[in-house]
Amino acid sequence: MTPQVTIPVLWEMKQQNQKIVALTAYDFTFARMVDAAGIDLILVGDSLGMVVQGRTNTLPVTMDEMIYHTAMVARAAERALVVGDMPFMSYQTDIAAAIGNAGRFIKEAGAAAVKLEGGAAVSPVIRAITDAGIPVQAHIGLTPQSVHQMGGYRVQRDAERLLADAHEVQAAGAFSVVLEGIPADIAETITGALDIPTIGIGAGPDCDGQILVLHDLLGLHDRKLPRFVKQYRDLTAPIREGLTAYSLEVRAGRFPAPEHCYR
Ligand code: KIV
Repeated sequence: MTPQVTIPVLWEMKQQNQKIVALTAYDFTFARMVDAAGIDLILVGDSLGMVVQGRTNTLPVTMDEMIYHTAMVARAAERALVVGDMPFMSYQTDIAAAIGNAGRFIKEAGAAAVKLEGGAAVSPVIRAITDAGIPVQAHIGLTPQSVHQMGGYRVQRDAERLLADAHEVQAAGAFSVVLEGIPADIAETITGALDIPTIGIGAGPDCDGQILVLHDLLGLHDRKLPRFVKQYRDLTAPIREGLTAYSLEVRAGRFPAPEHCYR
Protein backbone atom coordinates (compact mmCIF):
# COMPACT_ATOMS: atom_id res chain seq x y z
CA MET A 1 0.00 0.00 0.00
CA THR A 2 1.40 3.39 -0.99
CA PRO A 3 1.77 5.78 1.96
CA GLN A 4 -1.12 7.97 3.01
CA VAL A 5 -1.12 11.45 1.51
CA THR A 6 -0.82 14.11 4.19
CA ILE A 7 -0.41 17.87 3.93
CA PRO A 8 3.41 17.67 4.41
CA VAL A 9 3.45 15.12 1.57
CA LEU A 10 1.71 17.66 -0.69
CA TRP A 11 4.23 20.35 0.34
CA GLU A 12 7.08 17.96 -0.43
CA MET A 13 5.54 17.20 -3.83
CA LYS A 14 5.64 20.91 -4.65
CA GLN A 15 9.28 21.08 -3.58
CA GLN A 16 10.10 18.05 -5.74
CA ASN A 17 8.14 19.36 -8.76
CA GLN A 18 5.86 16.32 -8.63
CA LYS A 19 2.38 17.09 -9.93
CA ILE A 20 -0.47 16.65 -7.45
CA VAL A 21 -3.48 14.82 -8.85
CA ALA A 22 -6.80 15.84 -7.35
CA LEU A 23 -10.37 14.91 -8.23
CA THR A 24 -13.82 15.29 -6.75
CA ALA A 25 -15.93 12.38 -5.46
CA TYR A 26 -19.24 12.34 -3.66
CA ASP A 27 -20.01 8.77 -2.59
CA PHE A 28 -18.39 5.57 -1.32
CA THR A 29 -18.42 3.59 -4.60
CA PHE A 30 -16.69 6.22 -6.71
CA ALA A 31 -14.36 7.36 -3.91
CA ARG A 32 -13.12 3.76 -3.63
CA MET A 33 -12.19 3.77 -7.34
CA VAL A 34 -10.69 7.25 -7.20
CA ASP A 35 -8.56 6.30 -4.19
CA ALA A 36 -7.44 3.02 -5.77
CA ALA A 37 -6.43 4.91 -8.92
CA GLY A 38 -3.81 6.74 -6.83
CA ILE A 39 -5.44 10.18 -6.84
CA ASP A 40 -3.64 12.23 -4.17
CA LEU A 41 -6.45 14.49 -2.97
CA ILE A 42 -10.20 13.88 -3.07
CA LEU A 43 -12.36 16.97 -2.78
CA VAL A 44 -15.97 16.43 -1.79
CA GLY A 45 -16.94 19.52 -3.75
CA ASP A 46 -20.14 21.48 -3.41
CA SER A 47 -20.27 20.87 -7.17
CA LEU A 48 -22.37 17.91 -6.00
CA GLY A 49 -25.22 20.40 -6.01
CA MET A 50 -25.03 20.36 -9.80
CA VAL A 51 -23.74 16.90 -10.77
CA VAL A 52 -25.48 14.85 -8.06
CA GLN A 53 -28.51 16.93 -7.06
CA GLY A 54 -29.27 18.36 -10.51
CA ARG A 55 -29.34 22.00 -9.41
CA THR A 56 -28.30 24.89 -11.64
CA ASN A 57 -25.61 26.17 -9.24
CA THR A 58 -23.95 25.26 -5.93
CA LEU A 59 -25.67 27.86 -3.76
CA PRO A 60 -28.49 25.74 -2.24
CA VAL A 61 -26.16 22.98 -0.95
CA THR A 62 -26.41 22.66 2.85
CA MET A 63 -23.94 21.74 5.59
CA ASP A 64 -25.88 18.55 6.39
CA GLU A 65 -25.71 17.45 2.74
CA MET A 66 -21.96 18.10 2.63
CA ILE A 67 -21.41 16.14 5.85
CA TYR A 68 -23.48 13.23 4.49
CA HIS A 69 -21.44 13.01 1.28
CA THR A 70 -18.06 13.68 2.90
CA ALA A 71 -18.59 10.86 5.40
CA MET A 72 -19.20 8.39 2.54
CA VAL A 73 -16.03 9.49 0.77
CA ALA A 74 -13.90 9.49 3.94
CA ARG A 75 -15.00 5.90 4.67
CA ALA A 76 -13.74 4.86 1.24
CA ALA A 77 -10.42 6.68 1.05
CA GLU A 78 -7.43 4.76 2.37
CA ARG A 79 -4.63 6.82 0.80
CA ALA A 80 -5.93 10.12 -0.56
CA LEU A 81 -6.28 13.27 1.52
CA VAL A 82 -10.02 13.99 1.86
CA VAL A 83 -11.07 17.65 1.78
CA GLY A 84 -14.65 18.76 2.52
CA ASP A 85 -15.96 21.82 0.69
CA MET A 86 -17.64 24.40 2.91
CA PRO A 87 -21.00 25.32 1.31
CA PHE A 88 -22.31 28.81 0.67
CA MET A 89 -23.12 30.70 3.91
CA SER A 90 -21.43 28.14 6.16
CA TYR A 91 -18.40 30.40 6.74
CA GLN A 92 -19.46 33.90 5.63
CA THR A 93 -21.72 35.00 8.53
CA ASP A 94 -19.45 34.85 11.57
CA ILE A 95 -16.15 33.32 12.55
CA ALA A 96 -17.47 31.15 15.40
CA ALA A 97 -20.01 29.56 13.04
CA ALA A 98 -17.29 29.03 10.43
CA ILE A 99 -15.05 27.23 12.95
CA GLY A 100 -18.00 25.13 14.14
CA ASN A 101 -18.96 24.14 10.60
CA ALA A 102 -15.35 23.36 9.65
CA GLY A 103 -15.12 21.22 12.77
CA ARG A 104 -18.13 19.16 11.67
CA PHE A 105 -16.25 18.08 8.52
CA ILE A 106 -13.45 16.71 10.72
CA LYS A 107 -15.45 15.30 13.68
CA GLU A 108 -18.61 14.01 11.99
CA ALA A 109 -17.47 13.29 8.44
CA GLY A 110 -13.86 12.21 8.90
CA ALA A 111 -12.31 14.71 6.45
CA ALA A 112 -8.70 15.80 6.95
CA ALA A 113 -9.22 19.40 5.81
CA VAL A 114 -11.80 21.86 4.49
CA LYS A 115 -11.89 24.14 1.46
CA LEU A 116 -13.53 27.53 1.22
CA GLU A 117 -13.87 30.14 -1.52
CA GLY A 118 -12.47 33.66 -1.50
CA GLY A 119 -9.25 35.62 -1.20
CA ALA A 120 -8.33 38.56 1.01
CA ALA A 121 -11.92 38.98 2.20
CA VAL A 122 -11.99 35.52 3.83
CA SER A 123 -8.43 35.48 5.13
CA PRO A 124 -9.54 36.19 8.75
CA VAL A 125 -11.81 33.11 8.49
CA ILE A 126 -8.96 30.99 7.10
CA ARG A 127 -6.75 32.20 9.98
CA ALA A 128 -9.38 31.37 12.62
CA ILE A 129 -10.15 27.88 11.26
CA THR A 130 -6.44 27.10 10.89
CA ASP A 131 -5.78 28.34 14.44
CA ALA A 132 -8.47 25.90 15.60
CA GLY A 133 -6.30 23.10 14.20
CA ILE A 134 -8.24 22.52 10.99
CA PRO A 135 -6.28 22.69 7.72
CA VAL A 136 -7.82 24.97 5.10
CA GLN A 137 -7.49 24.87 1.33
CA ALA A 138 -8.30 28.24 -0.20
CA HIS A 139 -10.00 28.76 -3.59
CA ILE A 140 -9.53 31.94 -5.63
CA GLY A 141 -10.26 33.19 -9.15
CA LEU A 142 -13.59 31.99 -10.51
CA THR A 143 -15.39 31.16 -7.28
CA PRO A 144 -18.73 29.51 -8.16
CA GLN A 145 -20.43 30.56 -4.91
CA SER A 146 -20.06 34.19 -6.15
CA VAL A 147 -21.77 33.43 -9.47
CA HIS A 148 -24.26 36.29 -9.06
CA GLN A 149 -21.57 38.78 -8.00
CA MET A 150 -19.41 37.79 -11.00
CA GLY A 151 -22.38 37.96 -13.38
CA GLY A 152 -21.89 34.34 -14.45
CA TYR A 153 -19.05 31.84 -14.54
CA ARG A 154 -16.42 34.21 -15.94
CA VAL A 155 -12.67 33.84 -16.31
CA GLN A 156 -10.99 36.17 -13.79
CA ARG A 157 -8.20 38.28 -15.29
CA ASP A 158 -7.20 40.88 -12.69
CA ALA A 159 -3.62 39.65 -12.20
CA GLU A 160 -2.79 42.11 -9.42
CA ARG A 161 -5.82 41.21 -7.35
CA LEU A 162 -5.36 37.46 -7.92
CA LEU A 163 -1.71 37.60 -6.82
CA ALA A 164 -2.66 39.68 -3.76
CA ASP A 165 -5.43 37.17 -2.88
CA ALA A 166 -2.99 34.27 -3.26
CA HIS A 167 -0.48 35.92 -0.91
CA GLU A 168 -3.25 36.77 1.60
CA VAL A 169 -4.61 33.22 1.83
CA GLN A 170 -1.10 31.80 2.19
CA ALA A 171 -0.30 34.33 4.93
CA ALA A 172 -3.56 33.39 6.68
CA GLY A 173 -2.39 29.78 6.94
CA ALA A 174 -3.99 27.99 3.96
CA PHE A 175 -2.10 24.77 3.20
CA SER A 176 -2.93 24.96 -0.52
CA VAL A 177 -4.97 27.06 -2.91
CA VAL A 178 -7.27 26.11 -5.78
CA LEU A 179 -6.89 28.45 -8.78
CA GLU A 180 -10.04 28.30 -10.88
CA GLY A 181 -10.79 29.96 -14.22
CA ILE A 182 -7.77 32.21 -14.60
CA PRO A 183 -5.36 32.71 -17.52
CA ALA A 184 -2.48 30.24 -17.57
CA ASP A 185 0.24 32.90 -17.34
CA ILE A 186 -1.28 34.41 -14.18
CA ALA A 187 -1.57 30.93 -12.61
CA GLU A 188 2.08 30.29 -13.47
CA THR A 189 3.14 33.54 -11.77
CA ILE A 190 1.08 32.75 -8.66
CA THR A 191 2.46 29.20 -8.50
CA GLY A 192 6.02 30.51 -8.68
CA ALA A 193 5.33 33.15 -6.02
CA LEU A 194 3.79 30.86 -3.38
CA ASP A 195 5.30 28.30 -1.02
CA ILE A 196 2.02 26.35 -0.79
CA PRO A 197 0.83 24.14 -3.67
CA THR A 198 -1.58 25.55 -6.24
CA ILE A 199 -4.21 23.19 -7.65
CA GLY A 200 -5.57 24.37 -10.98
CA ILE A 201 -8.92 23.95 -12.70
CA GLY A 202 -9.11 26.00 -15.87
CA ALA A 203 -5.80 27.59 -14.88
CA GLY A 204 -3.32 26.07 -17.32
CA PRO A 205 -0.56 23.48 -16.99
CA ASP A 206 1.85 25.25 -14.64
CA CYS A 207 -0.04 24.83 -11.37
CA ASP A 208 1.45 22.38 -8.86
CA GLY A 209 -1.53 20.08 -9.41
CA GLN A 210 -4.80 19.73 -11.28
CA ILE A 211 -8.37 18.99 -10.23
CA LEU A 212 -11.48 18.14 -12.25
CA VAL A 213 -15.06 17.25 -11.40
CA LEU A 214 -15.37 13.44 -11.56
CA HIS A 215 -18.65 13.47 -13.51
CA ASP A 216 -17.14 15.79 -16.17
CA LEU A 217 -14.01 13.65 -16.59
CA LEU A 218 -15.95 10.38 -16.92
CA GLY A 219 -18.82 11.73 -19.03
CA LEU A 220 -21.46 10.85 -16.46
CA HIS A 221 -23.88 13.58 -17.50
CA ASP A 222 -24.97 15.36 -20.65
CA ARG A 223 -24.48 18.97 -19.54
CA LYS A 224 -22.32 21.25 -21.70
CA LEU A 225 -18.72 21.05 -20.52
CA PRO A 226 -16.54 24.11 -19.98
CA ARG A 227 -13.48 24.54 -22.25
CA PHE A 228 -11.05 23.52 -19.51
CA VAL A 229 -12.53 20.02 -19.07
CA LYS A 230 -11.04 17.02 -20.80
CA GLN A 231 -13.58 14.20 -20.92
CA TYR A 232 -11.42 11.06 -20.60
CA ARG A 233 -14.36 8.67 -20.96
CA ASP A 234 -17.98 8.98 -22.04
CA LEU A 235 -19.72 6.55 -19.73
CA THR A 236 -23.28 7.66 -20.38
CA ALA A 237 -23.53 5.49 -23.55
CA PRO A 238 -22.42 2.16 -21.98
CA ILE A 239 -24.56 2.84 -18.91
CA ARG A 240 -27.63 3.52 -21.08
CA GLU A 241 -26.90 0.34 -23.09
CA GLY A 242 -26.76 -1.75 -19.90
CA LEU A 243 -30.01 -0.26 -18.63
CA THR A 244 -31.78 -0.79 -21.96
CA ALA A 245 -30.57 -4.41 -22.13
CA TYR A 246 -31.93 -5.06 -18.61
CA SER A 247 -35.24 -3.49 -19.45
CA LEU A 248 -35.60 -5.47 -22.72
CA GLU A 249 -34.76 -8.77 -21.02
CA VAL A 250 -37.24 -8.24 -18.16
CA ARG A 251 -39.99 -7.31 -20.62
CA ALA A 252 -39.19 -10.36 -22.78
CA GLY A 253 -39.11 -12.71 -19.76
CA ARG A 254 -35.42 -13.55 -20.37
CA PHE A 255 -34.24 -12.21 -17.00
CA PRO A 256 -34.00 -13.82 -14.50
CA ALA A 257 -32.66 -16.95 -16.24
CA PRO A 258 -32.42 -20.33 -14.43
CA GLU A 259 -28.88 -19.51 -13.17
CA HIS A 260 -30.23 -16.50 -11.31
CA CYS A 261 -32.90 -18.53 -9.47
CA TYR A 262 -32.76 -20.34 -6.08
CA ARG A 263 -33.88 -24.00 -5.93
O1 KIV B 1 -16.97 22.15 -5.85
C1 KIV B 1 -16.00 21.72 -6.49
O2 KIV B 1 -16.02 20.61 -7.04
C2 KIV B 1 -14.83 22.57 -6.59
C3 KIV B 1 -13.73 22.14 -7.51
C4 KIV B 1 -14.15 22.10 -8.90
C5 KIV B 1 -12.48 22.89 -7.29
O3 KIV B 1 -14.76 23.57 -5.95
